[in-house]
Amino acid sequence: MNPPDDRRALNRPWGLLAELTHACPLHCPYCSNPLELVRRSRELPTEEWERVMREAGELGVVHVHLSGGEPLLRPDLAAIVAAAVRSDLYTQLVTSGLGLDGARLDELAAVGLHSVQLSVQDADPVNSELIAGRRSFAAKEKAAAAVRERGLPLGLNVVLHRRNLDSIEEIIALGEAWGVERIELANTQFYGWALLNRATLLPDRDQLARAEEAVERRRERLAGRIELVWVVPDYFDGVAKPCMGGWGAVSLTVSPEGTALPCPAAYALEGLEAPNVREHSLEWIWEESEAFNAYRGSDWMREPCRSCAHRDTDFGGCRCQAFALTGDATRTDPACRLSPDHHIIQRIAAARPADPTAVPFTYRKLGGQQTPPATAPSTA
Ligand code: SF4
Ligand code: FES
Repeated sequence: MNPPDDRRALNRPWGLLAELTHACPLHCPYCSNPLELVRRSRELPTEEWERVMREAGELGVVHVHLSGGEPLLRPDLAAIVAAAVRSDLYTQLVTSGLGLDGARLDELAAVGLHSVQLSVQDADPVNSELIAGRRSFAAKEKAAAAVRERGLPLGLNVVLHRRNLDSIEEIIALGEAWGVERIELANTQFYGWALLNRATLLPDRDQLARAEEAVERRRERLAGRIELVWVVPDYFDGVAKPCMGGWGAVSLTVSPEGTALPCPAAYALEGLEAPNVREHSLEWIWEESEAFNAYRGSDWMREPCRSCAHRDTDFGGCRCQAFALTGDATRTDPACRLSPDHHIIQRIAAARPADPTAVPFTYRKLGGQQTPPATAPSTA
């Protein structure tokens, strides 16, 4: 009998995050995209995305998130959806809702789009638009109605932080009113633009506890109708998150220019030679590339993770956070109370400004950072 082939023992990736473009009509300061956004002229052409979808299906991916930026800004989105559907992938459009009118939805539904996840920044239109950096709330409401009229599954995604956590009850009520089936309440993870805006976005333990209690109360009432997903924050409990379900374990990301990464924030890891789908197949990238093997399993771990009982369940936490906070991606995630660097997280949490508005948002913008307006802008 042949010895087992290690590559065959690898998990197949379950999900593909396809960042079709970094262009976006919104300017959310919590965005996890890189500070250096990919320009439109460098985006993969249609036929490359079609090939990526075909190879994803062959590799065993079952779910593709068509994301960005704003994927609706790709005029060829329907062709990319069609390619994904031909490969038996479940397709979810992850959108701000701007540009999602009835005609566009009909075009996407005709080629087999399976579901839509709509983002909103708050239940209060004024605060929602202040966070998004432009007029957008009414367009989102219309987009939600158009999705429901066509009978497509609709989810709401709300990134939570200090500037909207106190509205959690109203946010859930908004989801109910818009007819969604699932609400993802995603506490901000501090990468990219969110890291830049951490001083104004970071909540405190009490604010988070109040919000989580409210979610639990609502969860009971909504059981069987709306699924509430609470994505836990990791700065407060001394517990590292099992980031991405493990490095190169369950999903992969392809950036607008074709860079393939084990997680969407890994672009920031210095020294990581990220492969590109223009030069390699997804199968080679998943199985053979240095980048996807760099932190797979536990051989790369240092103490205290190496001998820790949790190392196979939390995978030592998040590599991107370890790098962002210590400059070394092989260190234990400072979110863990056992990390020798845990004091870094504690110091950051303790240094929050008393008044969140004292530190203005730095809005996400293609081609550089944008100085924020003092009040909600109206750039629609
Ligand atoms: Fe997880 Fe490492 Fe902390 Fe153990 S020491 S709980 S493996 S992050
Ligand atoms: Fe990259 Fe956690 S965000 S490993």
